[in-house]
Amino acid sequence: MRILVSGGAGYIGSHTTLQLIAAGHDGVIVDDFRRSKRSVVARLDALAGRSIEVHEVDLTDLAATDALVSAGGFDAVVHFAGLKAVGESVEKPLDYYSNNLGSTLSLLAAMSRHGVPKFVFSSSATVYGENAPVPMREDFPTSATNPYGWTKVMQEQILRDAAVADPSLRVALLRYFNPVGAHASGTIGEDPSGIPNNLMPLIAQVAVGRRDKLLIYGDDYPTPDGTGRRDYLHVEDLAAGHVAALDRLGTTDVTVSTWNLGTGTPTSVREVVDAFSRACGHELPVEVAPRRAGDVAESYADPSRAEAELGWRADRTIDQMCEDTWRWQSQNPDGYPDAPSGSSSDLR
Ligand code: WQD
Repeated sequence: MRILVSGGAGYIGSHTTLQLIAAGHDGVIVDDFRRSKRSVVARLDALAGRSIEVHEVDLTDLAATDALVSAGGFDAVVHFAGLKAVGESVEKPLDYYSNNLGSTLSLLAAMSRHGVPKFVFSSSATVYGENAPVPMREDFPTSATNPYGWTKVMQEQILRDAAVADPSLRVALLRYFNPVGAHASGTIGEDPSGIPNNLMPLIAQVAVGRRDKLLIYGDDYPTPDGTGRRDYLHVEDLAAGHVAALDRLGTTDVTVSTWNLGTGTPTSVREVVDAFSRACGHELPVEVAPRRAGDVAESYADPSRAEAELGWRADRTIDQMCEDTWRWQSQNPDGYPDAPSGSSSDLR
């Protein structure tokens, strides 16, 4: 299939584009490069063994999005593009609502006009809200505690309503737990702009010397070692989940399917730090700090529906996640280089 990958120059989007191409699909990237680097494109070309079609488009621009989809001949859209920093969403809620909802609405309008029937949405376990029991199941109610989370809850609802209005649509809502890791080559990986919010890139930056220590946000949680537990899954397993979901959309007559993408196994902060020390070969300086507002003690998936319906399992271990992250970070201590700005011809 010819598949438009929005946010395809981003962390999960880039890994998924590669796996779509490896699975025989024609993956096409659209990205506005606000939160990703143009230099990713040349690395993806090298890993894919061919030049990947890339479009620089602001998906909140209805006309530009329609022109792209009208000319594209796409069979499906995999939608990663969106702002995703919880803290920033509290400071700039209108940016988050207009960008995240606007891009989804533009894509759906264009898809409806030009007959693109399949939509895979990058959702998040954050839609389970703050008090969800574990393991989390897809039939749990959804809510949020910050504008970023609400944009995910709202986009899921938009997609459900769009599918009621157009039963020919096939939608996959993929609820990610905690994606980490990098392509085994070490040439692509997670490169958050500014100060990372998430644990793994912070640990990686401490390990490579960009940061002097890791703060452990609370060691008094009701967990075995007192630190928060999360369901970390390897980004390559996550990407494979998208390929499996797309295949499923081609055979199911269910209009909207929801799947947790997680391992089902929680790992604590201290266990991640220890695994990363094994991967990088040295101890990591840590300091216990107060709990972070909004953090829960535990969050992990019941992944049984994806296993049963997609034949998908996230089976890479936390050690593999840390080894692959370390290879990426140690080979790219400052992340991706800034490509020269200018026309899209500078994308390579
Ligand atoms: C993981 C654990 C922290 C940083 C977030 C978003 C969620 C989703 C995934 C997009 C927690 C601890 C962290 C640090 C620490 N993103 N930690 N020191 O909070 O589970 O989920 O990312 O969909 O929406 O909320 O991930 O990586 O921030 O934290 O001790 O410097 O690491 O307390 O237990 P989180 P995280």
